[in-house]
Amino acid sequence: MTARLPLVVLISGSGSNLQAIIDAASADLPVDIRAVISNKSDAYGLERARQAGIETRVLSHRDFSDRDSYDLALGDLIDEYQPGLVILAGFMRILTPALVSRFHGRMFNIHPSLLPKFRGLHTHQRAIEEGETIHGASAHFVTEELDGGPIILQARVPVLAEDTPDTLAARVLTQEHIIYPAAIRMFAEGSLRLEGERVHHNGQPLAAPIILNPEVLAQ
Ligand code: GRF
Repeated sequence: MTARLPLVVLISGSGSNLQAIIDAASADLPVDIRAVISNKSDAYGLERARQAGIETRVLSHRDFSDRDSYDLALGDLIDEYQPGLVILAGFMRILTPALVSRFHGRMFNIHPSLLPKFRGLHTHQRAIEEGETIHGASAHFVTEELDGGPIILQARVPVLAEDTPDTLAARVLTQEHIIYPAAIRMFAEGSLRLEGERVHHNGQPLAAPIILNPEVLAQ
């Protein structure tokens, strides 16, 4: 049996992606979620972690005078758990280059758009406003560029004429819950790694992100 990959998951909110990872781990995803860390004490994801018997820690950015000192403390807290992979799952903070480089090649993020389109916030609203007919989610390695790290996996969803940002967000979130555990599985099973700024899969550089459902086409 393969050893389970130790994970630390960082959240700020609802934690539905965390839940998807917890559920996958209790099925056959070979990971051990060692801790869930939140910068907000009222994040619902902390409750999900407790329900699953996972250790929780809160490190409030309000207790620090600047971003550098917060990120230094956060990095030290993460390292207490010796994770092989750090998972950002709705962690609503911009990370300093020092923190990102500390976990280079072993930190993932999930973003609710088909990157490189729509980095940053309000992705669903922007996709609707720009008349996109196809939208989606991306799992990627974290590098210093915000939402700009090498993409591993993407899933597409159609944008419907009657969509609101909320209905579109819900459709995208369903896909996030599929691709995030799938990307983590690839890393945990050893088929995925970052070399410099390039994703390698099965020993080969990825020419383009893997698309989970390429049958969903733009209209
Ligand atoms: C997701 O849309 C994720 O893509 C973004 O933040 C949201 C987190 O949702 N980074 P949840 O807390 O996992 O429910």
